[in-house]
Amino acid sequence: MIDNIETSPVTLALSKGRIFDETMPLLALAGIKSEESPANSRRLVFSTSDPYLRLIIVRPSDVPTYVQYGAADFGIAGKDVILEHTFQKPDGLYQPIDLNMSKCKLSLAVRRGFDYYAAIKQKMRLRVATKYIQSSREYFSNKGIHVELIKLYGSIELAPLVGLADAIVDLVSTGNTLRANDLEVIEDIMPISSRLIVNRASLKTRRTRLKPFLDAFWYASNSSHDSKNLKNPNNIL
Ligand code: PRP
Repeated sequence: MIDNIETSPVTLALSKGRIFDETMPLLALAGIKSEESPANSRRLVFSTSDPYLRLIIVRPSDVPTYVQYGAADFGIAGKDVILEHTFQKPDGLYQPIDLNMSKCKLSLAVRRGFDYYAAIKQKMRLRVATKYIQSSREYFSNKGIHVELIKLYGSIELAPLVGLADAIVDLVSTGNTLRANDLEVIEDIMPISSRLIVNRASLKTRRTRLKPFLDAFWYASNSSHDSKNLKNPNNIL
């Protein structure tokens, strides 16, 4: 009898926007196209030109959850999002491939002219606004700095402008948003890029179906980017 789990399509979780747009050329290198772009549709499930691959569209911060629970076999998310997720729920995900796309930095920034180091020296307890509570907590705790972290869900750069926070921890790509709001980087905390994450159980039970796609991502990202940080997915399968 044919095992259904091996014949049904595998599910790749993506988010709309930059991750979707940068993933499509990688799939195209393997000859795979989405039937439609989520930018032109309210649908959340898309088939592809490969009958064994379907795409689901979720919020960026939900990609690890869909993959962890096996609702998606694999997904693509930023290291920022994956770190926040795995601090709280460390099991069930493999991160086999750094796709080296959507590159930016997680940085600490303040209003131009604010003397951050003087404030730290005076042991002021700064308020820091961020989406990235876990990464920020680890950063400040490694430095022995006590801060009050304030969780926000977007437009983080506004917080210092209206007195909600003294500093922010946020993603910086071009730096345009910081400049437009008269903020400046104090320190870069870590480089960020997109990762392919895979459900641990799917790697075992759906190996035959998944492996060609993992290989396709490996070769596509290898051919289109500097590959020195990549880890061959064959090592984990
Ligand atoms: C991200 C990030 C910064 C901005 C940085 O925000 O949070 O605000 O991009 O990019 P830049 O350095 O090129 O200006 P996003 O657009 O994802 O929206 P958000 O405010 O909802 O997080």
